[in-house]
Amino acid sequence: MAFDLDMIKKVYNNYGPRIEAARKVVGKPLTLTEKILYAHLWEGNATQAHERGITYVDFAPDRVAMQDATAQMALLQFMQAGRPTVAVPSTVHCDHLIQAKVGADEDLATANTQNKEVYDFLASVSNKYGIGFWKPGAGIIHQVVLENYAFPGGMMIGTDSHTPNAGGLGMIAIGVGGADACDVMAGLAWELKFPKLIGVKLTGKLSGWASAKDVILKVAGILTVKGGTGAIVEYFGEGARSLSATGKGTICNMGAEIGATTSVFGYDEKIAIYLKGTERAEIASLADEIKEHLTGDDEVYANPHNYFDQVIEIDLSTLEPHINGPFTPDMAWPLSQFAAAVKENGWPQLLEVGLIGSCTNSSYEDISRAASIAQQAVDKKLVSKAEFTITPGSELVRYTVERDGFLSTFENMGGVVLANACGPCIGQWARHSDDPTRKNSIITSFNRNFKSRNDGNPNTHAFVASPELVTAMTIAGDLAFNPMTDTLTNSAGEQVKLEEPQGLEMPIKGFAVEDAGYQAPAEDGSKVSVIVDEKSARLQLLDPFKAWEGTDITGLKLLIKAKGKCTTDHISMAGPWLKFRGHLDNISNNMLIGATNFFNDKADTVKNQLNGEYGPVPATARAYKAEGIGSIVVGDENYGEGSSREHAAMEPRHLGVRAILVKSFARIHETNLKKQGMLALTFADANDYDKIREDDAIDITGLNDFAPAKPLSIVLHHIDGTTDTFNVNHTYNEQQIEWFKAGGALNIIRMNQ
Ligand code: F3S
Repeated sequence: MAFDLDMIKKVYNNYGPRIEAARKVVGKPLTLTEKILYAHLWEGNATQAHERGITYVDFAPDRVAMQDATAQMALLQFMQAGRPTVAVPSTVHCDHLIQAKVGADEDLATANTQNKEVYDFLASVSNKYGIGFWKPGAGIIHQVVLENYAFPGGMMIGTDSHTPNAGGLGMIAIGVGGADACDVMAGLAWELKFPKLIGVKLTGKLSGWASAKDVILKVAGILTVKGGTGAIVEYFGEGARSLSATGKGTICNMGAEIGATTSVFGYDEKIAIYLKGTERAEIASLADEIKEHLTGDDEVYANPHNYFDQVIEIDLSTLEPHINGPFTPDMAWPLSQFAAAVKENGWPQLLEVGLIGSCTNSSYEDISRAASIAQQAVDKKLVSKAEFTITPGSELVRYTVERDGFLSTFENMGGVVLANACGPCIGQWARHSDDPTRKNSIITSFNRNFKSRNDGNPNTHAFVASPELVTAMTIAGDLAFNPMTDTLTNSAGEQVKLEEPQGLEMPIKGFAVEDAGYQAPAEDGSKVSVIVDEKSARLQLLDPFKAWEGTDITGLKLLIKAKGKCTTDHISMAGPWLKFRGHLDNISNNMLIGATNFFNDKADTVKNQLNGEYGPVPATARAYKAEGIGSIVVGDENYGEGSSREHAAMEPRHLGVRAILVKSFARIHETNLKKQGMLALTFADANDYDKIREDDAIDITGLNDFAPAKPLSIVLHHIDGTTDTFNVNHTYNEQQIEWFKAGGALNIIRMNQ
């Protein structure tokens, strides 16, 4: 059994008292989201109501899930905590590093060779620390989590933006950075700004070509890519109860495309059916016992405008299939208007490739509905005009749909089955194209369609739709085709029409699998060695950062005074650097190379005060570090916005930067800096930014009295012998000051072991 029943029992036992405490402090009926959040407070029973969109709250998630790209640094950091095992059940899923080129077997074999050192590391570190390991080929993180770990009323974090997929089973599941995953595995609280709530009331019932995917494609059109920011989207109503659990998962998955913190459905009969069908009947029974807590209160759903910050209503009975894109998932087109939009906008009408599957849409229901269209193509003598690929979300689904004949149906239509992995969804696609400079169109059942995402080609216009619609469009090879109204010419020259898709929510014979690809951790990992080759360019074990020396920090060299926008991409660029994400020293060679130097308006060109020469930022930092001299980075407004990438905080720490002094911080980055034992400081007077000169040596004073809300001081020693002194602010609390003194949060955990 992969899931942890005792943990779930414990969570459910908490529900009664914690919901009662929450009712008292909130003083009104509760949404499902509030129930789950208040049931997972780090402090236990609520003692105060939290203000939506304002208060930062500590939570205790039940689980952690990590994909293979982001797991590397999360686990390297976790090793620093010195714990014998993870504090909460955790899993690693090898899905992102497999490139789709030829087909499942060959591509998987290639990935196993190319990524051997990463897989060996992840397998051994998982084995040692009690982490469930899902091998390459086992499936895509979110599908595997849905099939094995998600449970109604639970809370999990995952190091991937589509973690909210588990909301389909009634779980609050949130995508985070590796540092957050590391903290929770190490036994620390996890902080989140208490979210705003968007309610989506679903009425009616889907029919014909409309599917769960079309619900979220429509919601994306309404809310746009930013509309869900800082909010959790809660779906309710008879329409919600009519959707399969996996359909609900699709909707929650793509909540990431509207920027939502996560999305969630209440526990219902459909979720119970899925739990039972995936060998988790015990969880369904336990959930039945507390089902009043696993959905919002009746009054909330009767008068949603009184309880949600925003309410949207969608009638599933009249919902049209949608196609969204190109280049953004919120450009929503009802099918009946799409052909005209293609022509008006001059998008390439010839459809070159259709791709189904991914973590978003590869349930049994999705595959069976798409296969019903593919079967019609074969039966009606239609020859598919576009290329077609199928990416199963897990080995469980792949094995089952192969047994039930769907994969051979796709192959009969000319489809190629790819490995159970992310593949083309994350750009791991060696697409065969005769001319990559040609504007071209593809259509997928994935979630994201930003420029270059799938094949790295900015000329590719990617559209997203349901798997059944993708299959139909692939057969036609024409973006102007509408399967609801149009006919196609078959190989006998006859006009034929595709009938509505038919599918099954669950396999009649049940799910089956020979080897799901799961590797349970060792009972006692103390003797297990973590495998990292010392010569590896991709992986490097971390050394603990040094503790604070106990004095003011003096004589720091100015490394760079960054001007304007400085996002986590400017600080730690992605793209080709991602292959070094498990090797701190190597990836540090991208540190701040995207930032603009205030003094010469150039990127990656700063003055080395030791020799007066201009050179790259990382090399200059290394030169100071080699001489035992600390450095300081100065920045502008909202420094570190963008992502929660922990490398953006670890790299400066590694290269000897002691403090980041800016006009303002993006909060997540500021916290990440604190976790790494750095000083994150802000100008008390933003005009003091202008006082910083290129050749300054800088002191930070007041550290012996470092206390919450008490400013520190900066002394600038200019090269002409003059000085400037001014105050700087910080937001460190008592605990974070301890992190600074210990040289990082993980050092404290290790010291306490
Ligand atoms: Fe993978 Fe694409 Fe999902 S990258 S996790 S299949 S969104």
